[in-house]
Amino acid sequence: MDIAALKLVHVGCAAISLAGFTARGLGMLRGSAWRRRRWVRIAPHVVDTLLLLSAIGLMVATGQYPFVHAWLTAKLLALIGYIVLGSLALNYGPTRTLRLGAWLAALAVFGYIVAVAVTRRVVPF
Ligand code: HEM
Repeated sequence: MDIAALKLVHVGCAAISLAGFTARGLGMLRGSAWRRRRWVRIAPHVVDTLLLLSAIGLMVATGQYPFVHAWLTAKLLALIGYIVLGSLALNYGPTRTLRLGAWLAALAVFGYIVAVAVTRRVVPF
């Protein structure tokens, strides 16, 4: 697969991941029952696995790696923050206020990741 195709998969999965996370957050705030459906719980793992595999493919294809290139280190650390905040928001947050705060913070971190990806800078703003 060439770089352009890998990037299409990568950015496509990122967009689907964001849409799904946004929807599940709204479902969490409204207490919607569809959140507990089997495919709603499994699909994010499929999308996020593809996102990470395409990230690894892009690292190899472009010869840029975390802990070598600062912007990719920032992206990787921000991704860990996004995962922690996301699981607080959707699964482990003890109160509704904390879940809401974690959800909004996770969305902000996602925005940071995209800005870092596009500018290839640790401080993109
Ligand atoms: C939520 C997670 C992520 C999002 C939203 C995201 C988003 C993006 C976007 C939008 C691009 C295209 C940038 C452009 O060419 O203008 C990109 C490229 C790329 N991403 Fe990600 N990414 C994510 C996670 C990761 C992770 C964890 C890694 C590896 C540590 C990674 C590695 C790369 C690489 C190597 C490129 C290609 C850069 C280049 O063409 O020079 N991404 N990403």
